[in-house]
Amino acid sequence: MAKSPFSKKLLRWQATYDRKMPWKDRTDAYAIWLSEIILQQTRVEQGLPYYLRFLDTFPTVQDLAQADEKTVMKLWEGLGYYSRARHLHFTARYIAEELGGLFPDNYKDLLKLKGVGPYTAAAIASFAYGLPHAVVDGNVFRVLARYTADFTDISSTVGRQTFTQLANQLLDPAQAGAFNQALMDLGALVCKPTNPTCSICPVQEGCRALAQNIIGDLPVKSKKIKRQTRYFYFFIFRKGRQTWIQKRDQKDIWQSLYEFPKLESNRAITQKELKAYLSTVAPQYLLQKPMQGPFTQLLTHQKIIGHFFEVKVTKAPRIDRLLPIHEDRLAEYPFPKMIKKYLDTASAIG
Ligand code: ADE
Repeated sequence: MAKSPFSKKLLRWQATYDRKMPWKDRTDAYAIWLSEIILQQTRVEQGLPYYLRFLDTFPTVQDLAQADEKTVMKLWEGLGYYSRARHLHFTARYIAEELGGLFPDNYKDLLKLKGVGPYTAAAIASFAYGLPHAVVDGNVFRVLARYTADFTDISSTVGRQTFTQLANQLLDPAQAGAFNQALMDLGALVCKPTNPTCSICPVQEGCRALAQNIIGDLPVKSKKIKRQTRYFYFFIFRKGRQTWIQKRDQKDIWQSLYEFPKLESNRAITQKELKAYLSTVAPQYLLQKPMQGPFTQLLTHQKIIGHFFEVKVTKAPRIDRLLPIHEDRLAEYPFPKMIKKYLDTASAIG
């Protein structure tokens, strides 16, 4: 297919800005896969140090495959969406053990990897192998919805299909990787969600939303997220300098991370409920501090409201599957952000 004017202008523009990213010069599928998994739903500034640490710790897919789960989760700590880390680890093992350490080299087989969807498959296919698959992320949806003044909802199936098709039509098949990178960069640097800088945009001439002065109305994203609220009451039981943690291994948020034993509710609990719980699990308890919190964390579909109690005990709490641990060793374990934040406040322990 002939180069579209859009693609020509976009690629010409690419030479004029300098957005250095350490994965841009790489063509090995492992590094590209790693960067794209980390950058999904993560801003580049936030994801970058994680990418560098992962690559430093695990230079090859075999290194990642051989790591233990706790090490991988600890490196991922704070990034959120922990299933991405578990899938990353699973896929590294699969590639090392089943595929002889070689990444699939085509879109269809890439898509079969756990944790790799159309976005990541297209990114690896184009960046590592130069294959003509358009990468469509939120940035790309925004650019294209504005460029064509298309009010199709980008959170709908039809919207995703429409804009994916368009991106593939505009793609320069001979320079798929460069085109994809430039389109993402255009969305991040110029066609920003708010205050886009249309006057410096390389495709401003053809932009219908700009011509119609409706940039601010696009893209349309109607899906409203309903969030469930959960109240977590964490108990830092302490006997001398020993405390207890547990691993989250249910099919739930924060799977494979650790936490302090807790009481969960769908509403704020009462003093009475709190006392009843404590006298069941730790009859001779002594509350050391007033309740700390709330610590709030918004996840995609949930709102978590966390509180912490520090409780002195004389015996191990009567709770199943607790892991006793000296408090100096807490930092070795991966915790959800909320708990990490609590532990990082100087007064938390001691
Ligand atoms: N976000 C996700 N992947 C990216 C990439 N390759 N470049 C810039 N931003 C990104």
